[in-house]
Amino acid sequence: MNVLQVTTGAPEETEALGLLIGSLLPPGSFLALRGDLGGGKTCLTRGVVAALAPQSAHLVASPTYAIMNNYPGTIPVYHFDFYRLPGDDDIAELGFEEFFYGDGVCVVEWSERLVELMPADVLTLLFEYAGDDRRLITITGSGQKSENLLELLTKRYHQQEKL
Ligand SMILES: Nc1ncnc2c1ncn2[C@@H]1O[C@H](COP(=O)(O)OP(=O)(O)OP(=O)(O)O)[C@@H](O)[C@H]1O
Ligand SMILES: [Mg+2]
Repeated sequence: MNVLQVTTGAPEETEALGLLIGSLLPPGSFLALRGDLGGGKTCLTRGVVAALAPQSAHLVASPTYAIMNNYPGTIPVYHFDFYRLPGDDDIAELGFEEFFYGDGVCVVEWSERLVELMPADVLTLLFEYAGDDRRLITITGSGQKSENLLELLTKRYHQQEKL
């Protein structure tokens, strides 16, 4: 399985990674964000929104009190935060499937709360503390679309690193 691991040393770097990812996402993409509390999931989401719906990027706040925020843009971004929901059963009642399988981009914090409801083709980003302001972000893809996306992201990330 292909994996891209990125260590960021400041919130701005995590946001910049989100911006790069956002610039590569096709409609219908699903980003599953998981891992440590305060790991940088919202920060990365801000970068994704900056790429696709720049006029809304400043609205991407942490902590998020809404379960879903909708940012209209070149591709609409649906930002979910399931921290306050215990799991699948409660989430199923909210009827989010139309967004999960729609033409926007879904960015889902605490995606581990989705079990049965998780789409098959997702790009997963795991956030872990790596001391002080460092965060280790491990990116994997499941499904053809996400594997292709990961391949492209890996190429672009290494190109950017050389600049
Ligand atoms: N390298 C880094 N990347 C991202 N955030 C960092 C980094 N270093 C320090 N931080 C700080 O860590 C915090 C990350 O917060 P953020 O809300 O993005 O995390 P989160 O994973 O969304 O948290 P939650 O689990 O509560 O939703 C911010 O206060 C940010 O300033
Ligand atoms: Mg958050």
